[in-house]
Amino acid sequence: MLADLTGRRALVTGAGAGIGRVIARTLAAQHAEVAVTDVDGGAARTIADEIGGKALALRLDVTDPVSVQAAVAELLDRWGAIEILVNNVGVTADPLREVPGDREEDWDRTFAINVKGTVRCCEAVIPAMRERRYGKIVNIASMAGHAARRTGGAYAASKAAVLRYTKGLAVRLAPDNINVNAVCPGALWTRFAQMDMAATQRHDPALAGMDPEEVFRRLYTPVIPLGRPQEPEDVAKMVAFLASDDTRNVTGQDIHVDGGAILRD
Ligand SMILES: NC(=O)c1ccc[n+]([C@@H]2O[C@H](COP(=O)([O-])OP(=O)(O)OC[C@H]3O[C@@H](n4cnc5c(N)ncnc54)[C@H](O)[C@@H]3O)[C@@H](O)[C@H]2O)c1
Repeated sequence: MLADLTGRRALVTGAGAGIGRVIARTLAAQHAEVAVTDVDGGAARTIADEIGGKALALRLDVTDPVSVQAAVAELLDRWGAIEILVNNVGVTADPLREVPGDREEDWDRTFAINVKGTVRCCEAVIPAMRERRYGKIVNIASMAGHAARRTGGAYAASKAAVLRYTKGLAVRLAPDNINVNAVCPGALWTRFAQMDMAATQRHDPALAGMDPEEVFRRLYTPVIPLGRPQEPEDVAKMVAFLASDDTRNVTGQDIHVDGGAILRD
């Protein structure tokens, strides 16, 4: 039995696809009212319809302060409170360029979305959470924010920033009974990973022509102690746990949902 989120209201960013979609679905299954938000308003609508019940769809672009404020204001108007914020949005620069010396615009875009987008959404909901002395913020980071297995570049540095921000915010908001934690997914077959594989296959002629998902499994399985990539459900269940009162004394942590990959050199 997963955490009970009855009566809680949750805003999930980037929930029009991939991991965010499953997070929204999982929180709703645990009886939270969920706002499915995405820069792609149509995708948000599709997922909210798929979830059904009281799920709402809103267009929310984390890079746009007006869009973030408008979405939060609309939810507070409807709901009166937001108890749960899941900062799920995250992008990588074109993987073909994600090496030291990434182009300046890649660094700008990655930090604008992954770091400043997270900060912006937190700041937008904090006053309402403070007022009620209750809140759960879960930031989706990545094992790339810790491990220096690959060169890293803008994406890894942005996720390291999200992890550091999470810890500082947890300390800042602890007196207001607001928990702030991060979840670090490992490797999941979403559009995000599909882009990465397309780049890998373009770099390596031996992999060209292979089924991209097969390439993904071949590359990742050997570096994951549990021997399998993760599914969005694995991440979503951890988010639901951290969004619940079962973890009321957990804050400032980053929990790895990566099959133990972080433990490998
Ligand atoms: N897939 C993986 O293997 C993996 C591994 C580690 C961490 N992560 C992290 O998990 C999170 C989700 O990744 P995913 O694989 O589901 O990604 P995805 O690309 O499948 O989905 C991302 C969603 O975010 C939306 N989005 C993009 N820019 C936005 C913006 N400015 N404002 C609002 N929404 C925006 C997209 O429209 C899309 O619906 C990200 O933070 C990512 O860094 C993913």
